[in-house]
Formats: sequence, C-alpha cells, structure tokens
Amino acid sequence: MPVPNDLGALAALLSGAGFIAASEEAHELLARAAGDVELLDSLVARRLTGEPLAWITGSVVFCGLEIRVDPGVYVPRWQSEPLARRAVARLPTNGVAIDLCTGAGAIAKTLITNHPSARVVASDVDERAVACATANGVEVYCGDLFAPLPRTLEGRVDVVVGVVPYVPATALPLLQRDTFAFESPLSYDGGGDGTDILRRVLTDSPRFLRRGGALLLELGGEQAEALGDDLGRLGYLDVAVLADDDGDVRGIEATLGADQPCSSARGD
Ligand SMILES: C[S@@+](CC[C@H](N)C(=O)[O-])C[C@H]1O[C@@H](n2cnc3c(N)ncnc32)[C@H](O)[C@@H]1O
Repeated sequence: MPVPNDLGALAALLSGAGFIAASEEAHELLARAAGDVELLDSLVARRLTGEPLAWITGSVVFCGLEIRVDPGVYVPRWQSEPLARRAVARLPTNGVAIDLCTGAGAIAKTLITNHPSARVVASDVDERAVACATANGVEVYCGDLFAPLPRTLEGRVDVVVGVVPYVPATALPLLQRDTFAFESPLSYDGGGDGTDILRRVLTDSPRFLRRGGALLLELGGEQAEALGDDLGRLGYLDVAVLADDDGDVRGIEATLGADQPCSSARGD
C-alpha cells in the first residue's frame, strides 16, 4: 500500500510506528520527497527501519544552521547546542578554535558562522565524518584528537571544544535499540567509565590552548566529578559544570590557568 502523501495521514502512520516527533518528521519527509510519491515511499520505508531521519533527509538544523549529514556520520544533537553557544561566547572575534571529534562539523560551523574572522579547525578519526564536515565548509583534519592538527596552532588556541565519545562501556548496551544498527560505537564508546577520551583531551589541550583559553567538553552523569582531580592537576581554573533545564549534567567549561603545573602532553 502506498505511503500517504498528506501531512496528517503520514504523521499518523509514523506515530503508530512509535515515532515521537511524528508530525515534524512527516513534514520533513514530505518536503524531501517534493511530491515524488515513489521517492516518498522509499524514504518512509527507510525511516521505518529506524535509520536516522537526518541521513534520509540529508541534513539537520543545529543552532539555527542547516548542517549536511551524510549516512554513517553522527547526527548532531540539539542537546549539544548550549555547549556550542558557550564556545561561541568564549571565542574572540579574530580568535582560534579547535572542534575535536567534529563529526559532521556542526559545532565548528556554528563557530565559523558566528565568528567569520576566526580560525576554526577540527578533527575526526572517521573519514566519512571528515568528508561531511569538509562539505559543511569546515577545515577538518583526519586523525586522532590533536594529532593531525597544524602544530603552528600550539599555544595560540582560544577555545578547545568537543563532543567526544563519553558513554561508559557498561552503558553501551543501554543505548537505543537502533543506535548501533546504524551508527558506529566509535561515536559513543568512552571506555570503562566513559572518561578515557575526555581525560586524553584534558591532558593534551594545554599544549594548544593559550593561557586563559577555554576548554568546553560535553559529558554526563558523575563524569565532571571524576575529572575534578585531573582538571586541578593540569592547571585548569574556574571549572564550571554545565547543566540542562532538568538539572542534568551536560558538560564542563574550564579556563587554562596562567601557571602551568604540568607540561602535559608536550612529551618533553
Ligand atoms: C559523539 S560524536 C560527536 C560529533 C560532533 N561533535 C557532534 O556533536 O555532532 C563523536 C565523534 O568522534 C569521532 N571520534 C571518535 N574517536 C575519535 C578520536 N580518537 N579522534 C578523533 N575523532 C574521534 C567519531 O568519529 C564521531 O564523529
């Protein structure tokens, strides 16, 4: 039976299949199909398998910007928008920012759009993400965290921001059923208690940040507390825990102090 091509009926079909934002999704799918009923059939069939909507429509809105999202690339979440806005607030007009684990490049693009004179660079270990972020106009390098970034930026960076993988290994099986049917554990897996990559970022950031520069990381649960000792030892000051409207911990914001107790990851 063909998929209904009016908003109400398609929304009802999606709602019946368990999609919470059925009306919005129906609207996006109809817009993407643009009256092509065969295309609409195939788009809806894909959605009913649980494939992320953004992979089907090809984009998502993040901080008011349309971000291209290619199949296989992590879909930027609205929950990360406040962190991106804090990064915008901490970046001077002509400053320098690094977006680690950029995925589709949503945070980097938000920074570039709000600070067109700033230098914004990004990295991701997944080549599909690198291609997607490049298509979104981001200067992105393929590789592990800071490793592929230009060394000329060392000590000059105003903001390091990242939505890095931070889900504890034990919590991976609790993620939504469809998550790993489509998305890669590489986007989520933060090791034992989820802080493996977060700790590496804390350790390596002082090499790139200028004194007074900001580190902004998404995290959750007890992770801010777990990282407290590392933050102090590595010379970060003014550590603020960022929470959402429900009071749930969503990230940390810290400033690199003037005096560096450790040379961190410089390796010398
Ligand atoms: C949770 S997603 C976040 C993507 C993006 N920051 C966003 O909010 O839309 C994490 C991303 O980190 C990348 N990644 C995982 N481990 C990495 C590493 N060691 N170095 C660089 N990127 C990594 C994954 O490929 C994925 O794109």
